Amino acid sequence: MDARIIIEGPTRLFGEAEISRSKNAVLPEMAACLLTEEPITLKDIPDLLDVGTMTRILLGMGVQSQSSGGSLTLRAGELSSVKVPYEHAHRMRASVLLMGALLAREGRAELSLPGGCAIGTRPIDLHLKGFASMGAKIEQGEDFIIASGKLRGARVYLDIPSVGATENILLAATLSEGQTMIENAAREPEIIDLCELLRKMGADIRGAGTDMITITGVNRLHGATHRPIADRIEAATYMIAAAATGGDVFLKNANSAHLRSVINKLTACGAKVIDAPNGIRVRASSELSPIYIRTASYPGFPTDAQAQFMALCCLARGTSVITESIFENRFMHVSELRRMGANIRVEDRTAIIEGTQKLFGANVNATDLRAGAAMVIAALCAFGESVIHDPHHIYRGYELIGEKLTRLGAKIKMVE
Ligand code: UD1
Repeated sequence: MDARIIIEGPTRLFGEAEISRSKNAVLPEMAACLLTEEPITLKDIPDLLDVGTMTRILLGMGVQSQSSGGSLTLRAGELSSVKVPYEHAHRMRASVLLMGALLAREGRAELSLPGGCAIGTRPIDLHLKGFASMGAKIEQGEDFIIASGKLRGARVYLDIPSVGATENILLAATLSEGQTMIENAAREPEIIDLCELLRKMGADIRGAGTDMITITGVNRLHGATHRPIADRIEAATYMIAAAATGGDVFLKNANSAHLRSVINKLTACGAKVIDAPNGIRVRASSELSPIYIRTASYPGFPTDAQAQFMALCCLARGTSVITESIFENRFMHVSELRRMGANIRVEDRTAIIEGTQKLFGANVNATDLRAGAAMVIAALCAFGESVIHDPHHIYRGYELIGEKLTRLGAKIKMVE
């Protein structure tokens, strides 16, 4: 029998859950270990499929890894390979983040064309354009890309404030000769966190968190220890789940400074969001109001919380409108939500959700990571049993989701 998650609903979530460290901060920080021969220790690393995949790719390059007490120490003494093999790259798009660090360290990076969530075509042209303007030669075949050459500082303008391209160019620029300026850089908290680690390693970076980042290359970087930020998307997911199920949940470690747009929409729905020094409490209202959302780059509403919010909108009293402006194919959860009784119409990149009083348990698919999270929220609200297939997408980004939800009162069973 296939792996699946079985949820019996409806349940109101009550109690406390601890938010893990951010997957999207950890992955580029693991790539940063390639920039030095000295050990990099990342603390409180979440036990996630994507972290395991990144570790395996690094091991394949000759990096030594050691885990103890939740910390992961990576030591890239001497590298035996500069190739990201297909069997790993096709599973995780973030493997492309290894290119910048490999180029900086070894002057060469080989990548099998990456996979990850199937949300849109997700090209990497901006990453490659950045490397090319820093002097790299790019060779591209049908299923591989090779970047090579000695990098020097350059002015790189990003047509789109791409998170991955900003991180990749940052990683590449730390050891390049001269100064690199990334214009129209992404401003996500994960980028600030990566820069914090790089600075601890001896990098010279200014402007992280703004749309202009300046990196002055240094000759060498050294070891460092870092605890990544809490996962704002995991926090958003539990916050939305609390509001959708009519619950009252405290999310330890959640950082409200990183969640302003999500908090704003939850409040507009009627939920009470209470900020505490060590986390965020979300208390649902008796009725959910419909809302309007347009996803945008940070500090706008995160595309990674769009699917989860749509699950909530299914139960609001009235018509909600959600526009996805970052990815062109990020509505795969719509057909799955419809199986549970949702009334959603899609016009181009906009979904119009007519709220209904009830959802019903059904057999659904976790078509990608965040769509899978939306299925979990909808299943918690739905009457009867829901079976979520392809749960490995969910395990890529949600640590201990079964345990955390069980503690909050959910009737959830994970079948391997
Ligand atoms: C990162 C996050 C992902 C999140 C996304 C947007 C990680 C590991 N993943 O993904 O969870 O959904 O940011 O917040 O941090 N684009 C191009 N050319 C490029 C690069 C991107 O056209 O070379 C486009 C993409 O197709 C997309 C948009 O730019 O439409 C934003 O993508 P980007 O910010 O790069 O997302 P990722 O870094 O892949």
